Amino acid sequence: MRIVHVSAEVHPFAMTGGLASVASSLPSALHGAGHDTFVITPLHSQEGVDLEWLDGPFRTPDGMEFGLGKSVIPGSDCPVVFVASNEYFNRRGLYGPTGSEAWPDNAARFSFFCRAALEAVSRLGGCDVLHCHDWHAGLVPVMSRLQGGPPAVFTIHNLAFQGTFPLDQFAATGLPTAMAGLDGLEYHGGFSFMKGGILFSERVTTVSPTYASEVTTPEGGFGMEGLLLQKRGEGRLEGILNGIDNELWGPEDDPSISPWFTPDSLRRRSACRSALLEECGLTLPDSAIVAGVVSRLTWQKGLDLVLPALEGLIAEGRLSLAVLGTGESWIEDPLSAASRRFPGRVFFRREYDDPLSRRIYAGCDIFLMPSRFEPCGLSQMIAMRYGAIPVVRRTGGLADTVTDIREGGCGIVFDGSEPEALRQAVGRAAEAYGDVRSWRAMQRSAMRIDNSWTARVPAYLEIYRKASSGGWIEKNHGCRAPGRDLHRGNTDR
Ligand code: GLC
Repeated sequence: MRIVHVSAEVHPFAMTGGLASVASSLPSALHGAGHDTFVITPLHSQEGVDLEWLDGPFRTPDGMEFGLGKSVIPGSDCPVVFVASNEYFNRRGLYGPTGSEAWPDNAARFSFFCRAALEAVSRLGGCDVLHCHDWHAGLVPVMSRLQGGPPAVFTIHNLAFQGTFPLDQFAATGLPTAMAGLDGLEYHGGFSFMKGGILFSERVTTVSPTYASEVTTPEGGFGMEGLLLQKRGEGRLEGILNGIDNELWGPEDDPSISPWFTPDSLRRRSACRSALLEECGLTLPDSAIVAGVVSRLTWQKGLDLVLPALEGLIAEGRLSLAVLGTGESWIEDPLSAASRRFPGRVFFRREYDDPLSRRIYAGCDIFLMPSRFEPCGLSQMIAMRYGAIPVVRRTGGLADTVTDIREGGCGIVFDGSEPEALRQAVGRAAEAYGDVRSWRAMQRSAMRIDNSWTARVPAYLEIYRKASSGGWIEKNHGCRAPGRDLHRGNTDR
């Protein structure tokens, strides 16, 4: 079976979040297991990419020219095909000039990307299943269905970002206008790429089983809950847990940390802890617990709760805090202020720094993820692999990957989204930390949990098999499949 992944970002070429990690590690794991697979992604920047240009010219059905370049994912040799366009890509920001601002032509950019991706697939010999990730690839299933192309699997990494645009930009999609209606992409008076992906894919997945339930509720569905509930009823929605790439992440041979350690040489980890404290200028005694955070600083991640929850412990000299990440200034600014107010106790680095993130994973005692919602989350799995005990809110993939010590697990899981809930959770961690032997045992168990991608591959293969076994229109009860007239409309444009 041939599977083509379509994603707006792929690590290490372009990355703003976990999507890029998954779009790199999942295809790599499939490729490593001997399956025929490759990834299609925009060429956001050619810097440092070893490209082999394919003989063109390549044109979308509406006549836009683009280039196709081939490379491989470093470490796995899984092929990557880049869609090159100076008009739409090759810009400083992937989605906008800054993290919070969008490019005004995003609807046109990602419509073009979807058209070009489908054209690339057919020029490269077709495939059995298209695996499309998040809204940026959401029109691929729609276009493929209209053209009678391959079936699609659509994975929701984060439903909060839906690619919704005003209807007056619908022409940019190149889709027939009939597709702008309620049975098509219409969404609250505009239109949504995400809705297209959900509606026109044979299978929809989320990145954890708990998230697959949450997206069918008003709190977690961000307006799409009705549609997703219907998909769930049809047996077309399920959650598959993300994994982590054990070749990329692991304290046994990570070049950014020293010394290396394994569950059997856990004592060596204390040198990583001391090195982290020194690097961050944290001076509290060893009896104080070291809390680490590596995250985008957005409302979703709940990191605005950290200071209100932990200021007391910090002021009393019982907790040191090391935070690495960038994001929204309403979260960044109080952290900067706290690092000035509590020198030697709070460290804040406002950037994404991969080597430092690894030293935080390897050196902190507890790793905080108080996310308001979390489709899966990768950092808690990485933290456990490096022997840090995760303190997480019971939501999405955090609920699926972390089990509380009270239930025999090796993490702290709390309910509630007020600072007091986090304070109590950290209080429980600090108490457990007092018992050195059982803490070490817990760290060892955490390190031994298998969250590798290899463990997840069979579930995806099953989804691909179901998606490619056909019969989409016959089996599609709830939503009307586009008829021949729409198909003709498309080619008439
Ligand atoms: C998004 C989600 C995160 C998930 C990642 C990869 O960034 O917010 O929870 O782990 O995608 O699927």
